[in-house]
Amino acid sequence: MKRLGLVGLLGAALLGCWEPGDAVTCFDKQYEHKGRCCNRCQPGEKLVSECNGTEHSVCTRCESGHYQQSWTKERHCAPHDICEDNAGLVVKTQGNTTHNTVCQCQSGMHCSDRSCQTCVENQPCQLGFGFVAAKAIAQMSSPCEPCAEGTFSNISSKTEPCHPWTSCEEKGLVVKVKGTNTSDVICESGRRSSISVLIPITAAVITCFVGLCLYCLVRRDSRRRVEMEIEAGKPGENLNQRPEETDDLPVQETLLGGQPVAQEDGKESRISEQERL
Ligand SMILES: *[C@@H]1O[C@H](CO)[C@@H](O)[C@H](O)[C@H]1NC(C)=O
Ligand SMILES: *[C@@H]1O[C@H](CO)[C@@H](O)[C@H](O)[C@H]1NC(C)=O
Ligand SMILES: *[C@@H]1O[C@H](CO)[C@@H](O)[C@H](O)[C@H]1NC(C)=O
Ligand SMILES: *[C@@H]1O[C@H](CO)[C@@H](O)[C@H](O)[C@H]1NC(C)=O
Repeated sequence: MKRLGLVGLLGAALLGCWEPGDAVTCFDKQYEHKGRCCNRCQPGEKLVSECNGTEHSVCTRCESGHYQQSWTKERHCAPHDICEDNAGLVVKTQGNTTHNTVCQCQSGMHCSDRSCQTCVENQPCQLGFGFVAAKAIAQMSSPCEPCAEGTFSNISSKTEPCHPWTSCEEKGLVVKVKGTNTSDVICESGRRSSISVLIPITAAVITCFVGLCLYCLVRRDSRRRVEMEIEAGKPGENLNQRPEETDDLPVQETLLGGQPVAQEDGKESRISEQERL
């Protein structure tokens, strides 16, 4: 019951505000005073006296060092901000009757916080951070920014921005070591990579060639030996095994160091192996 009564009262009060009647509706550059519409004072001015039946509002310019930004019925202008030297501040734009003075940090300093009542000395940008000239001019925050991907800073400096990594491609080189935010890319000659491909290929070709030559040599050698064996009058069983023999031989002898083995030794070992079989 009590609450309902309160709501009713509030509603009535609100309705009362909206009720037409004796309330006057003034233009937006006016205000209502004692049932009349008085003119507001324009920006840069303050009110001296309200209007009445015979006179308009009387306004006057803000005194020096003061400003007033809007259409007002205020009798006072606000004082300009003072840029405190010992807070590291200097005037960015001088105030006038309509605008406040704007301060900024002295060069080499930046705002200590968002409100920028005081300034602090810029620190050198650390490794991985670069100096940003635009931020330094604005003096709104530390003029350092982390180096983006593709750039680096390898020194602690108050002036050096992040530098882009060296482009190895542009120099006709290839990347040897990837860049980081604190170090540049290290390039190396692209020729070395083609050499590193050529060397094994060349080596393989040479090995094949040498192998082939050895094979031919050994084969010719063993054929001659078989002929000698026949001449020596030792045919018989050995003769039957000749094809196998000639096939096995080169492998055995190549394994013995690739050197043509003394004929006598070779013969003996061959024979002993055959006997074992
Ligand atoms: C209206 O105000 C002016 C000063 O602003 C004053 O001189 C004058 O007497 C006032 N007239 C009436 C009717 O109040
Ligand atoms: C006051 O200063 C503001 C900005 O600083 C400027 O835009 C405006 O034109 C100035 N007004 C006068 C009257 O000098
Ligand atoms: C630099 O890169 C390292 C590793 O990627 C990272 O941990 C570090 O936060 C970066 N530093 C800056 C300043 O961006
Ligand atoms: C920083 O990098 C540049 C470019 O790679 C190099 O010339 C310089 O010697 C480096 N400085 C330091 C301190 O590492």
